[in-house]
Amino acid sequence: MTDRTETASEIKADLETITSLAKRRGFVFPSAEIYGGFEATYDYGPLGVELRRNIRDLWWRSMVHQRQDVVGIEAAIVTNPRVWEASGHVEVFHDPMVDCLKCQARLRADHIEDNTCPNCGTVGQFTEPRNFNMMLRTNIGPVESSESAAYLRPETAQGMFVNFENVQQTTRRRLPFGIAQIGKSFRNEITVKQFIFRTREFEQMEMEYFCHPDESLDWHAYWKKERLRFHYSLGIRPQHLRLRDHTPEELSHYSKATADIEVHYPWGWGELEGIAHRGDFDLTQHSKFSGKTLTYFDPETNEHVVPHVVEPALGLDRTMLTLMMDAYDEETLEGGETRTVLRFAPHVAPVAVAILPLSRNEKLVPTARQVWEQLGPHFRTQYDDAQSIGRRYRRQDEIGTPLCVTVDFDTLDDQAVTIRDRDTMQQERVPLTGLVTALTTRLEALRPAVPSHDEIAV
Ligand code: GLY
Repeated sequence: MTDRTETASEIKADLETITSLAKRRGFVFPSAEIYGGFEATYDYGPLGVELRRNIRDLWWRSMVHQRQDVVGIEAAIVTNPRVWEASGHVEVFHDPMVDCLKCQARLRADHIEDNTCPNCGTVGQFTEPRNFNMMLRTNIGPVESSESAAYLRPETAQGMFVNFENVQQTTRRRLPFGIAQIGKSFRNEITVKQFIFRTREFEQMEMEYFCHPDESLDWHAYWKKERLRFHYSLGIRPQHLRLRDHTPEELSHYSKATADIEVHYPWGWGELEGIAHRGDFDLTQHSKFSGKTLTYFDPETNEHVVPHVVEPALGLDRTMLTLMMDAYDEETLEGGETRTVLRFAPHVAPVAVAILPLSRNEKLVPTARQVWEQLGPHFRTQYDDAQSIGRRYRRQDEIGTPLCVTVDFDTLDDQAVTIRDRDTMQQERVPLTGLVTALTTRLEALRPAVPSHDEIAV
């Protein structure tokens, strides 16, 4: 287990550096770039999708597979619009907007500093604030009318509430239990900024934990700690994370209490994950609007209760950005050269093991291919034979590959390869017969240490 708190204590990357690396190495591209892009919209490249899959899988494993009290669903993105009337999103999911009378820029009223237009610098010349609904509207069917209007979901959460009864009955769950989902959500954000930190199309990983009202505050406290543990397990340095309770003014319309897990970004502390206590708001609303009784019958007390809900809600895009910023390091080597390293934890890194033949010499290639075939079933591998070995090590450092396996001419004689460690740059000769075990042991040793639930102070 490694402890990175002592080796690197500050975030070394600014947003520009990460944006540039993300594009240069194929993590994130501006969407439809050949058409000039599309504001705050991004496409994920070959390494980006691997990083995202790893984050999703780790979330799902820890939230669903490694628990007996949580199950998963996938609900529709465009569903019955009544859902959004019941949830309150049609009526209250608004941002207050003003227009600058000089340059006509449309701005979020609560983002204007010193009464000055950030677009043209005019002071104090704005329209009265008007509410602007943040849901993206679409139409279902051939005729556009108010009857055919529908919405792209602004949160995945409602999919869990409207399926509460289906899931509870088909799985015969008793309280407390959770329903988890990963999927895209959409918000017509007016202020989009900080690269993939806030975008209009984004991916959420949410879990609704249904519990007895008397126990809900304890479960809220429980999930705050568990969610911090998850972020530690991804390798985010503890000193870059904090928990912050919302003030009453900040609470969403459905929330009784919310704590954010915040990250220390270069522009200040920002929300990574929200852990909301939604009370019985959603089930009560859906009962009212659907006419269905959404309660839980407790066979021990013979009571019908409306469960309360604790909701950890995490953004995938934001987690990806956080991991890239937190992992970024620049190191000056002997001789003055600087190397860029993404110090990803091994289970997060897009590539876990790179296979590098010393050259494209035809004597080496068959053995290098065999090594790649041997390792493929066990690790996320990449076969890389372009350019000099030194440049390939730098490239793998820059994309965060923890281990490289080099196949050289000695391999043909001694049936051994060199394992090169990203962080220490040390190299070690290992026989091909024990290679999978040797790599597994080294990758395991690089995983971050995670404190137990009781060791976390909140
Ligand atoms: N479901 C909470 C959120 O989308 O922020």
